[in-house]
Amino acid sequence: MSGHGTPIPMTSRRANALTGVAEVPGDKSISHRSLILGAMAIGETKISGLLEGEDVLDTAKAMQAFGAEVINHGGGEWSVFGVGVGGFAEPENVIDCGNSGTGVRLIMGAMATSPITATFTGDASLNKRPMARVTDPLALFGTQSVGRSGGRLPMTIIGAADPVPVRYTVPVPSAQVKSAVLLAGLNAPGKTVVIEKEATRDHSERMLAGFGAEITTEDTEEGRVITLTGRPELKPQVIAVPRDPSSAAFPVCAALITPGSDVLVPGIGLNPTRAGLFYTLQDMGADLTFENERLEGGEPVADLRAKFSPNMKGIEVPPERAASMIDEYPVLSVVASFATGTTMMAGVKELRVKESDRIDAMAKGLRANGITVEEGEDWWSVEGCGPEGVKGGGTAQSFLDHRIAMSFMVMGMGAQNPVSVDDGSPIATSFPIFEPLMAKLGAHISRDNH
Ligand code: S3P
Repeated sequence: MSGHGTPIPMTSRRANALTGVAEVPGDKSISHRSLILGAMAIGETKISGLLEGEDVLDTAKAMQAFGAEVINHGGGEWSVFGVGVGGFAEPENVIDCGNSGTGVRLIMGAMATSPITATFTGDASLNKRPMARVTDPLALFGTQSVGRSGGRLPMTIIGAADPVPVRYTVPVPSAQVKSAVLLAGLNAPGKTVVIEKEATRDHSERMLAGFGAEITTEDTEEGRVITLTGRPELKPQVIAVPRDPSSAAFPVCAALITPGSDVLVPGIGLNPTRAGLFYTLQDMGADLTFENERLEGGEPVADLRAKFSPNMKGIEVPPERAASMIDEYPVLSVVASFATGTTMMAGVKELRVKESDRIDAMAKGLRANGITVEEGEDWWSVEGCGPEGVKGGGTAQSFLDHRIAMSFMVMGMGAQNPVSVDDGSPIATSFPIFEPLMAKLGAHISRDNH
């Protein structure tokens, strides 16, 4: 769990050049899903390359609380002995999902159609985030929920004893909501249909198929229509978790803004529902290339090479690309500060309900470091200062948000003056090796209270 310990103030000072190989950890989205689907299969699912960040470790604990056996063999190798669809036991205690919206929303879905009751809580960030987006569709299955005002955690979910399948159009672009409905649909008889108007990350669909569920996806005029047949027997899998493109974003962007840099980030998934940032950076004129492009486990994968890019231009980021780079806008806004001209990011209302209000958090921190930012409810724009023009020298608040903290540490690598964050402790939720990995490339990040 994050946000319960002592804050860790951090400062990032200008780096000479970032060079070398950055082996980023496993994908967070796929790691959560490996544990949850492993727990819903019968038998042993073997996972390698699991992200051992706090978010995922909280999901592992939760799966144990629901009756699965979860074993950590060390070195990213894990086993999950699942209890089967509909086999969850009632947890004896409150489930604490820490900082993780993905964890809590997917687990709520996974238990919602079993005749058990569970109470969920999280840290100060998670307990502010909206859960009605998940409990509303779960109610259609017959699931009951009671939480705090505004549909916030802590919240108790009473699983449907006699669930019915549902047809649901997701009102916001959210893979978490889509996935919660699909996971609930696993234990409902008949066909559950989820429709999304904008395609979001499709790891749940791919993995459900991999575990042997009957699931189809069709692109129609209504949007993407996903149909799942309930009550399958999920077969345990051997899963090699690919490296996380959302974590790769940090060393990649750091290299683009730090003079003299040349960094290789190997083995990054370029699933089209996740890779939007890299295409946006290329559109800005970044020296970012995909080497050794290949298919791994059915997913397109490449080694990313990022070099210092002094000629980047501000652009209008296509709003239809938002879902495929939703977690990357904070660090993109840092790169935009080092570009020439304005970068406009529209169609991004969802940024306001992440681990923090990411538009507000980034705008405040960027302004503290001399950058001009304008914002509206669902858009924001950043005025670039050019490759040598970012002053820095400010302290940003991280608002219990790992990606805000890492984005400002990246900014300090290229800025004229050091950039600080009040609390870097949330970095451990998704990228526990961020500091040593960046140090190895040549970054200067220090913990200020040590
Ligand atoms: C995730 C979905 C996205 C993303 C989050 C991970 C997932 O959230 O921001 O970091 O694994 O399904 P939303 O579903 O809220 O867009």
